[in-house]
Amino acid sequence: MNRDFPATLVDPFQRRISYLRLSVTDRCDFRCVYCMAEDMQFVPKPQVLTLEELYRVAEAAVGLGVRKIRLTGGEPLIRNNILSLVQRLGALPGLETLALTSNGSRLAELAAPLRAAGVSRVNISLDSLRPDRFRELTRFGDLAKVIAGVDAAVAAGFERIKLNAVILRGRNDDEVLDLVEFARQREIDIAFIEEMPLGQIEEHSRALSFCSSAELEQLIGSHYPLQPQGDPSGSAGPARYFSMADSRSQVGFISPHSNNFCHLCNRVRVTVEGRLLLCLGNEHSADLRPVLRAPGSSRVELERAIVAAVALKPEKHHFTHGEEPEILRFMNMTGG
Ligand code: 5AD
Ligand code: SF4
Repeated sequence: MNRDFPATLVDPFQRRISYLRLSVTDRCDFRCVYCMAEDMQFVPKPQVLTLEELYRVAEAAVGLGVRKIRLTGGEPLIRNNILSLVQRLGALPGLETLALTSNGSRLAELAAPLRAAGVSRVNISLDSLRPDRFRELTRFGDLAKVIAGVDAAVAAGFERIKLNAVILRGRNDDEVLDLVEFARQREIDIAFIEEMPLGQIEEHSRALSFCSSAELEQLIGSHYPLQPQGDPSGSAGPARYFSMADSRSQVGFISPHSNNFCHLCNRVRVTVEGRLLLCLGNEHSADLRPVLRAPGSSRVELERAIVAAVALKPEKHHFTHGEEPEILRFMNMTGG
């Protein structure tokens, strides 16, 4: 291929971009209280990238040195024919790791075919082990289905399964140890994510419900001594992981507020509308959809647009605890 630009993604702060989080839908069968408003506007269908367009974005990114792709949403598994995209990505030369983030609602049926198609890692959101509370936090979720989904994922033999839990004070902060125990029983990992100010929610006050990673680390550490897993500059990304002497499970903390990890950032996101986002906590973006849809558009044009976008990557995010979200985009639009 003839390119008049270097086929690598290095941003102005010398960070090499090797990880793409690709959102395949902004829709979801849940409405988690910290993620969505009750009444959400979704992207009109004509603006949603087709599976073919999503594949072209992935292929161009891998051509530029991306080695890991995570499919996100919304809930990626409610996208029609998602398995056909996963199968193509599973066979994409140069892509080393294909991962998925899911709410687990459809994993009971899909875990085995996803594994067979080449998905090696799954993250599953799980914030409560009490059915009534799970329903309140997700507004629609059925805990039994999600637990069946986790167990199907364990049975399917993924290389890594990680639970993601967002802990909110007064709502599920009494379940931290139960969640860790649930992960330990299955020998899977669990990460606790501090709630981020993404999108305007009315349901609770983010400042009042905030639970810091430091607090959770102390609580868990007093029950299961935690051994730090070294510097996160490896592939661990923004999470800090700990092991427990008597278990294969690891416990992680993702602390956008208390621990600034931006200098290690190796990732970009693409929304389901084809907007390439350079940072979760900033509005910097580039619109790939017109490039994808230009008549006769070529792979080189798409690569050029991605290379140009990476030059816009900001140095860091600036989340605070204010009541007003600085980022008006909800997580389902951002792409988990
Ligand atoms: N802050 C923190 N985590 C969030 N998630 C969704 N919205 C937010 C938010 N505002 C989490 C989900 C899921 C992961 C992809 O992102 O719980 O586990
Ligand atoms: Fe759906 Fe995930 Fe958002 Fe919950 S956090 S509403 S499961 S996209």
